[in-house]
Amino acid sequence: MLLDHLQQKLDAIEAQSLTRFLRAAETPTAPRQTVRGRDGVARELLLFCSNDYLGLAAEPALRDALIEGARRYGAGSGASHLISGHSAAHEALDARLAAMFAAHIPKARALSFSTGYMANLAVVTALGDADAQVFSDSLNHASLIDGCRLARAEIKRYAHVDLTELRSLLMASTAKIKLIVTDAVFSMDGDIAPLREILTLANEFDAWLIVDDAHGFGVLGEQGHGALEHFGLVSERLILVGTLGKSAGLSGAFVVAHETITEYLLQAARPYIFTTAAMPAVAHALLAAFDLIEGDLGRARRAALVDLQARLRRGIEAQLARRPHWRLAASETPVQPLIVGGNAEVMRLAGALEARGLRVPGIRPPTVPKGEARLRITLCATHTAADVDALLAALEVIE
Ligand SMILES: Cc1ncc(COP(=O)(O)O)c(C=O)c1O
Repeated sequence: MLLDHLQQKLDAIEAQSLTRFLRAAETPTAPRQTVRGRDGVARELLLFCSNDYLGLAAEPALRDALIEGARRYGAGSGASHLISGHSAAHEALDARLAAMFAAHIPKARALSFSTGYMANLAVVTALGDADAQVFSDSLNHASLIDGCRLARAEIKRYAHVDLTELRSLLMASTAKIKLIVTDAVFSMDGDIAPLREILTLANEFDAWLIVDDAHGFGVLGEQGHGALEHFGLVSERLILVGTLGKSAGLSGAFVVAHETITEYLLQAARPYIFTTAAMPAVAHALLAAFDLIEGDLGRARRAALVDLQARLRRGIEAQLARRPHWRLAASETPVQPLIVGGNAEVMRLAGALEARGLRVPGIRPPTVPKGEARLRITLCATHTAADVDALLAALEVIE
């Protein structure tokens, strides 16, 4: 019965061209990666799909730091943080993150998590209790949406970056606790939320601002500290979530907020409490990743990304006259989506690119709204200008 039921659902997914497939990579995450196709044959492809924006996942210094961490701390953490899984490496990671954001969040304290998904669930469910209302951007990441679904708070969705709607929702609210929740860089669109204006609204209406900077950390700001540095924001009302599996090249996530908020998360956030702490070697290696992000290498790679973004946008914009139904999202970040419309069409285009040796993911609903399927092109600082030109040349000719 269950199997028939599920098969019907799978058939419906297939009928909408929404079936997804796993592909196995045989070499490190990098612009050129050997990937096994659905036919089982391994081929080197030029990737425009990872979130490893600074190219740190394949950085030898991080691999060495992981090895050093494993030598010092062994393999697993063995338990959740509050039992016995919290190591000196986790403690150093939390201290480093708190110091990193001290200029932006007074009395900052940090807590690290195993994944960004869990950090977002933790913050939204723990703070979004029955006394709270949560104001959530309609294009927020699935992990924030799932946090909202699990939270006891009443959820108010506002249209994407629509500050007029957000303002009127805040004005009408009589909730004791008001929490605004937004991605800093929207993961499927690449645009940056107007955080300064949103923070002004938070101040005006006595709300708190949860910012998910998964795609800004490492990429935005002079030192790569992300959206808060980019906008020069300073406020006790900021509750920052960042992920460490994207620009930081490893895995994990963090929350940085006023120490009372972080202490409450430590006591009450179930995704923090009821899970095994991440491997200490990863926490140890993250310290090396932060050195790279903040140093000359990070600075040079952020500059390279800006050049690559401009090159890609110029090239695609020149093709749009011939492709009136394509739209290049207005993005100033390494996430550069090319919106093509239908599910079948985006998968056909992704297939045609792959036949030319390029891997660009087709993103379909429910990840993006219906009718807005897209090629989610992501750039990595270790792409070359010639790599971008190869993508442009392929886009020019595919049908
Ligand atoms: C905006 C955003 N937030 C959170 C996450 C979840 O982070 P993680 O992959 O570390 O679970 C992602 C992507 O994975 C994301 O794009």
